[in-house]
Amino acid sequence: MNPVIEEAEITAKTVLTQDLFVFKLSAPRISASAKPGQFVQIDPGEKFFLRRPFSIQDAYGDEIEILIKVVGEGTASLLRREQPWNILGPLGCAFSPPYDGEICLVGGGVGAAPLKFLWRYLNDIGRSVEFFIGARSASEIPVDKTDPVFSHLKIAADDGSFGFKGTVVEYLKSELPPEARPYICACGPRPMLSALRNLMLERDLIGEFSLESRMACGMGVCQGCAVPVDGGYKLVCKDGPVFPFDEIDGRYWK
Ligand SMILES: Cc1cc2nc3c(=O)[nH]c(=O)nc-3n(C[C@H](O)[C@H](O)[C@H](O)COP(=O)(O)OP(=O)(O)OC[C@H]3O[C@@H](n4cnc5c(N)ncnc54)[C@H](O)[C@@H]3O)c2cc1C
Ligand code: FES
Repeated sequence: MNPVIEEAEITAKTVLTQDLFVFKLSAPRISASAKPGQFVQIDPGEKFFLRRPFSIQDAYGDEIEILIKVVGEGTASLLRREQPWNILGPLGCAFSPPYDGEICLVGGGVGAAPLKFLWRYLNDIGRSVEFFIGARSASEIPVDKTDPVFSHLKIAADDGSFGFKGTVVEYLKSELPPEARPYICACGPRPMLSALRNLMLERDLIGEFSLESRMACGMGVCQGCAVPVDGGYKLVCKDGPVFPFDEIDGRYWK
């Protein structure tokens, strides 16, 4: 389905930390067609010309769920904004894990958001899936502890204040038997994905990474979100954000 614009009312807000929030929004047309890995662009209001992109972290009934970390003026303005929020989506392409075999989800920080949607979808269809999440510390875990997914998570905290002490990639490596060949779906900051890429090359694993880039139009028009993929350039907003990990050029990781 083509992306649509909806005026979305906030139906619930959960405060995870002082700068991390989960919003449930009434957006029936976006919810009806959203797939795990896709994102929305939200108008931050006030003086801002450009929308800001956020992964859809779940979609059910008439609602979508979004995880928002306040990092700058646009996200701060969005949180001050009165309802309804003007939302464009769903945008981009979805994760496409194979139909059989083990699947491992690896998320860092707000990169956990699209994977939460993927985890629920895979669970609903009875697939075997492990979900690793990394955060700097216990207080920055990007998932609501009352969410049903929480008890299924394998959580790593860099400072050891919760779960495994170390990075999420170190945790995955410590749990991965030498013969294991799970399909990896990952999203997170570039250094995390780079470390994961090295592990996947070492262990001969395949999978997909969801990439981030600064965005303007979010719909393939401005060419502002190009990343080096497959020997050329591809657009994170239209060709991605999900790309086969081995098609992302070495230039991206430098
Ligand atoms: C496909 C996609 C999905 C995303 N999903 C989520 C999500 O689920 N939850 C969430 O909180 N954020 C998500 N982001 C990042 C979010 O869009 C940015 O944090 C937001 O646009 C920042 O706006 P700002 O005006 O507050 O920050 P700015 O004032 O523009 O920037 C503040 C800081 O954030 C950095 N930054 C801004 N935009 C990005 C970006 N796109 N990628 C990396 N760093 C950025 C800047 O370099 C700067 O250091 C996603 C981005 C993309 C491209
Ligand atoms: S943001 Fe405009 S082409 Fe991707």
